[in-house]
Amino acid sequence: MTENLTERPIVVLGGLGKVGRRLVPALRDGGHPVRVASRSSEQHFDWLDTATWAPALEGARAVYVVYLQNLFSPEAAVRLRSLGELALSLGVERVVLQSARGWPEAYPAEVAVRSSGAPWTILRPAWFFQNFSEALLVHPLVAGEVRLPTGDGREAFVDAQDVAEAAARVLTEDGHTGRLYELTGPRLLTFGDAVAEIAAGTGHDFRFSAQSAEEFAAEMRAAGVPEPYRYMDTEEFARMESSLFAQVHSGANGYLTDAVERILGRAPRDFADYVRETAATGVWDKQPS
Ligand SMILES: NC(=O)c1ccc[n+]([C@@H]2O[C@H](COP(=O)([O-])OP(=O)(O)OC[C@H]3O[C@@H](n4cnc5c(N)ncnc54)[C@H](OP(=O)(O)O)[C@@H]3O)[C@@H](O)[C@H]2O)c1
Repeated sequence: MTENLTERPIVVLGGLGKVGRRLVPALRDGGHPVRVASRSSEQHFDWLDTATWAPALEGARAVYVVYLQNLFSPEAAVRLRSLGELALSLGVERVVLQSARGWPEAYPAEVAVRSSGAPWTILRPAWFFQNFSEALLVHPLVAGEVRLPTGDGREAFVDAQDVAEAAARVLTEDGHTGRLYELTGPRLLTFGDAVAEIAAGTGHDFRFSAQSAEEFAAEMRAAGVPEPYRYMDTEEFARMESSLFAQVHSGANGYLTDAVERILGRAPRDFADYVRETAATGVWDKQPS
């Protein structure tokens, strides 16, 4: 869809990603013009090339900010502050950052956006359901075994569709500026519980095995950095993944919030619904290429 020139667009950075590709239609269905921006989108935007930033944000009414995966790096805070300052100077009225719940290393990146002077809202989603079907976990899952150092730590997995719908509201409704929302699903699950539910829902023999943090880090270093994360070196990637899973293992993520319900006026979707709908697509029936 081309932009409606009479109304300023909402820019979605990372608009082809797990939340972005659900957020874009949610906004367009609501009649809002959208500009999708990333390295492979109609509007070229690259976090690593600041020359691409102003053309992407020019004339925008609001921007949804999906940063590269490693929100915890010092560069993330520097870049996010610069982007916030640029948005402010261009008259962008809402800057909504997709942060991450239960990942304290990412919080300096939030502070950077908040201190940029731009009118901010922070969304801190829990782990997405879709990590099991649209991201790195799909490969080990379909191969039969997910090995992680998460022990019995429970996570409040959330549907990326709920995050996208909440983001659409926050980007288009009044009353969210200066607010931080932790977005969770309705049920706490260990990674082992999640794998067991997918196994039951598909009839496949998928297993979860607990790993020590040391085993996991050693495997990460030996395997190297997968394609979407190649901007990091092996050590940075291993540290990022280890810190995320250590947080789950610690039990600190084992709580639910009512933020999805407060924003959307309905309960968040359950993992069982996601499993049923995703199983029907066949994504768990074959080894991804
Ligand atoms: N996955 C989760 O469970 C989860 C939960 C909470 C928070 N988060 C946070 O959400 C963010 C997104 O993570 P995700 O794993 O869900 O990824 P994603 O949004 O599914 O995909 C990343 C997006 O970023 C774009 N991208 C990658 N490198 C880029 C670059 N150099 N410049 C501009 N755009 C670039 C990609 O599009 P192009 O290839 O077209 O550039 C892609 O659309 C991260 O900050 C993460 O910490 C993730």
